[in-house]
Amino acid sequence: MSNPIYDIGFLGGGQLARMSIQAAQRMGLRCLSLDPASDSPASRVAPSIQGKLDDPKAIRQLASACCSLTLENEFIPVQAIQTALANLPITVIPSLSALGLIQDKLQQRMSYAKAGAPSPIAFALEDPVEPIEKALGYPMVLKSRFGGYDGKGTLIANDRAFVEQARPVWSQGGWLAEKFMPFSREIAAMVVRTPVDAICLPIMETYQPNLVCDVTLPADIRGDADRAKAVAIKAVEAVGGFGLFGVEMFQLQNGDIVINEIAPRPHNTGHYTLDWGRLSQFDLHVRTVLGLPLPDSDSFDGLPVAMVNLFGVEGARDYRKGIQSALAEQPSASIHWYEKTEAKPGRKMGHINLDLNNLPEGCNSADAIIAEMQAIRTAFESGWTS
Ligand SMILES: Nc1ncnc2c1ncn2[C@@H]1O[C@H](COP(=O)(O)OP(=O)(O)O)[C@@H](O)[C@H]1O
Ligand SMILES: [Mg+2]
Repeated sequence: MSNPIYDIGFLGGGQLARMSIQAAQRMGLRCLSLDPASDSPASRVAPSIQGKLDDPKAIRQLASACCSLTLENEFIPVQAIQTALANLPITVIPSLSALGLIQDKLQQRMSYAKAGAPSPIAFALEDPVEPIEKALGYPMVLKSRFGGYDGKGTLIANDRAFVEQARPVWSQGGWLAEKFMPFSREIAAMVVRTPVDAICLPIMETYQPNLVCDVTLPADIRGDADRAKAVAIKAVEAVGGFGLFGVEMFQLQNGDIVINEIAPRPHNTGHYTLDWGRLSQFDLHVRTVLGLPLPDSDSFDGLPVAMVNLFGVEGARDYRKGIQSALAEQPSASIHWYEKTEAKPGRKMGHINLDLNNLPEGCNSADAIIAEMQAIRTAFESGWTS
């Protein structure tokens, strides 16, 4: 291909690419995505290429048609991207060096330690286990260094017997062990970092039963918000990242804030911004990828919005009936559906946002908000499976 005809190329065509493309399209920009599936969520809204994300040839085909390149998942091998981009005048956001550090959760931990950013102490999980056990104690968290998501690749070991039982999984290499954080809550924030500025969006509380994000809501964090924002920005600085990042943190019982992990892309915990009445995380992503100006950092606040994820369920049928039921339950809800072809149980299929000004009377504690959001989802599911 000669001259690039697309403004942005996306490595990956899932829901994060889809919603970023929709944001770009509002400005009349053209996007192209690469995904192994022929019917990815992004392919429903813009042209796409079908190909493997670790195939330099497919990546080059995407990149040569685009002015700038970004990604929607952090698992694409840096080496494949480097090979693909040789001699192509194209910038990649996030930078490949930050991507390389982030894709290995042990390197991430080491980057935080080096930068003096608070994060659990971690070691490569390998024999002998005794010194690791001595340094970390139990419970201890065992994690796949590469490719983990939605709690897949995270194990909580309560004793040596568990570590031994899991030996066939970790003894092949590629695992870490880290200190268990007895957090009182999980929080997250989106960070936008450019060469001249770093901006942190509001701190959200993330409710993650079974290690998967279920509901997010504005964190009732009062005096701790600035501290949490500073930690989130420090996490991005520690890996030398530029662009948009989702930063997951723990707040411990003593109030301390500790980094869990960062993602170099739009993030599930930033979906609330689609309905907060300001620029969404996807608008910000598009702007950072294209190097477009951003508004003043102090204007980054909007309506208080909670989000609940819609996961694939057994017996799922017509999602439009789900929309109908959810809106009958809560007409102020805002439904986002990703148009995935298969509703495998547990798969993220969409999400629902709610401006908390529309909550029923007396519903103001975090627990009550979580229950309300889950009730809207239950209504969705009852229509979807009917
Ligand atoms: N060090 C830790 N201490 C306590 N809980 C943890 C720790 N690390 C992870 N978890 C729990 O496991 C979940 C998934 O771990 P995470 O590293 O975020 O992996 P994923 O990439 O799957 O999101 C976290 O959201 C948290 O609930
Ligand atoms: Mg996580």
